[in-house]
Amino acid sequence: VTDAAPPSPSPPPGTLLATAEAPGKAILLGEHAVVYGHPALAGALGRGVRVTVRADPQGPRLHPGPLAAPVPIREGDGGALGTALARVLADVAPGLRQVALVAEGSLPLGSGLGSSAALSVACARALAQTAGAPLSPDRLYDVVRHAEEVFHGNPSGVDQATVVRGGVLLFRRASTEPGARPHVTPVTPARPLHLVVAMLRPHTGTREAVAALRERRDRHPRTVDGLMAELGALALDGARALESGCPGRLGELMDLSHGILAALGVSSDDLDHLVHLARRAGALGAKLTGAGVGGAIIALPGQAPDAAQRILDAMTTVGAVAFLARVGEPPTGSPG
Ligand code: MEV
Repeated sequence: VTDAAPPSPSPPPGTLLATAEAPGKAILLGEHAVVYGHPALAGALGRGVRVTVRADPQGPRLHPGPLAAPVPIREGDGGALGTALARVLADVAPGLRQVALVAEGSLPLGSGLGSSAALSVACARALAQTAGAPLSPDRLYDVVRHAEEVFHGNPSGVDQATVVRGGVLLFRRASTEPGARPHVTPVTPARPLHLVVAMLRPHTGTREAVAALRERRDRHPRTVDGLMAELGALALDGARALESGCPGRLGELMDLSHGILAALGVSSDDLDHLVHLARRAGALGAKLTGAGVGGAIIALPGQAPDAAQRILDAMTTVGAVAFLARVGEPPTGSPG
């Protein structure tokens, strides 16, 4: 005979347990250079991922979208997605098994817009809510770092820092000292920032683009290091241009940055084409964003009322997926 309370009955399948959101991100300046310790300027996008947790006796599994089969949340046989989310689950709510995570979003995948970090952050927040154990931003950053390593190898951390904290920020990666944390400085734009985002095809992969650039650096260390330092300096200039409300200057910095990224070999024909079309349609500046070699561009519209629409029209006439996004959204979703 025991006086222990009987185990609480599992909620019926499909019961809603929690819901949370996370934004995507756009790197305004400094991608790739940030991997080598230079600053990057990045902002949270007004588009992101929402994750709903429901009771599911066949869990843990992820429903990645209406047209995709469920993915088991398990190291190994769930592919990169299942493995990454298994790490999130083990870190946040290790005892939770009978759950389905249902993801919905408005971020194109493989676009350089932080879809993997947004998914991991939204999942971590929703799981923490289900387990009744909210996460601090630092803890959330660490949880998502474990997941991002599955997708991207050894990322700088700029994606998850931006997605976790929201707003616009200058990011510099942590030193290699054990326990070192990245330097994150919030940036307050003097006026609201909207960018046209456009893409023709997914990128070939962050891990691949970073690896190819590392090889190029091995062959041309002086030139590549000099260009990387310049990209970092442009990110600092960009933060000042945003804070002092100089969109024309920010646009020029974006153009300079795209030229350097192209010289470093991380642009592609489709990205160059979209960047040129955006400039011809009146953009103050345009560049690739994120890892490059496919993926998205960002273009800064001028002040005229139809400025953004003209760029969007130019993008859609060549079949690009394009939208106007507010950049610097405050953090969304549940606490942590
Ligand atoms: C990817 O969003 C940004 C890169 O700089 C890689 C990284 O920071 O780890 C290309």
